[in-house]
Amino acid sequence: MRLLPAKAERLWPSSKERHSRTKPSQPFWSGYILYDYNFSNFSGVSCVADVGCGRGAQLGQVVERGCPAVGVDLDGEALAVCARQGLTVVQARAEALPFRTASLSGLICKVVLPYTEETRAIGEFARVLAPQGTAFICSHGLGYYLRYLLAAPGWKERFYGLRTIVNTCLYAVLGWRLPWFLGDTVYQTRRRLKRAYRRLGFRLIEDTCSPSFLGLPVFIYQKLERAPWVLDAANRRSDA
Ligand SMILES: C[S@@+](CC[C@H](N)C(=O)[O-])C[C@H]1O[C@@H](n2cnc3c(N)ncnc32)[C@H](O)[C@@H]1O
Repeated sequence: MRLLPAKAERLWPSSKERHSRTKPSQPFWSGYILYDYNFSNFSGVSCVADVGCGRGAQLGQVVERGCPAVGVDLDGEALAVCARQGLTVVQARAEALPFRTASLSGLICKVVLPYTEETRAIGEFARVLAPQGTAFICSHGLGYYLRYLLAAPGWKERFYGLRTIVNTCLYAVLGWRLPWFLGDTVYQTRRRLKRAYRRLGFRLIEDTCSPSFLGLPVFIYQKLERAPWVLDAANRRSDA
C-alpha cells in the first residue's frame, strides 16, 4: 500500500467509528440500493481510480475485470483492508487527487461526495479524467437524510439527518456550512450536480432510476462522460 503521507489528518472517522456513531444496520437501506448496479462497466479503459474506495468492494471488481485500478481514500484502516487484498491504494483527498491531468480513463465515486467539498471534488474528477473518460458516481439525495430524520431507530441518526438537511440548505442558498462536525455532510441534488457537470465539462450519459423516499431521491446513480473540449480549453489557458 502506498500511503500518501504527510497530511495524515483524519477528516473522516474510521469506518468502525462512523458505523457505531450514525449508521443503522444495512437492512435499513436495503430497499433503496441497486445491488446489481455495475460500477465497473468500463469498456476499453486503461486506468481507473475509485475515489473514496472504502474497503475496496468496487475496486476489487474492477481489478477482477483485468483493469488496472487504484483506490483513493482518507481512511487508513479501510486502505489497509484493501492493501491486504492486494489492491493498489493511496491515501488522499477527493478534492486533491494525486494523479496527473487527463491520466485516467475511468473513475468511480460511490457515496463519497456528501462528505467532500463537492465542487472541488467534481472539478478534480474532470481534471484527472482523459477526454471521453467514464465516471460512475453515486450520491445521496434529500430522501436519504429525510429518511434518517423520520425513520431511523435512534436519536443520533435522526439528528444526523436533521443537521445534514439544514447544512445543505445553508450551503445551497448561502454557500455556508454549519460549524465543526455539524457541517460535515451535504446531500446532492440532481439540479446542482447537473450545473456542476455542465460547468466542469461532463456529459450525463445515464441517470438510473432507483427507489425514492416520499418521492425524493435516496441514492442517485449516474454515469458521466468527460467532454473533450474542457481539456482543450485548459490547455489553451495554460499555453497563454
Ligand atoms: C460511505 S463510504 C463508501 C465507501 C465505498 N465507496 C463503498 O461504497 O463501499 C465513504 C468513503 O469515503 C471516504 N471519504 C470521505 N471523505 C473523503 C474525501 N474528502 N476524500 C476521499 N475519501 C473520502 C471515507 O473514508 C469512506 O471510506
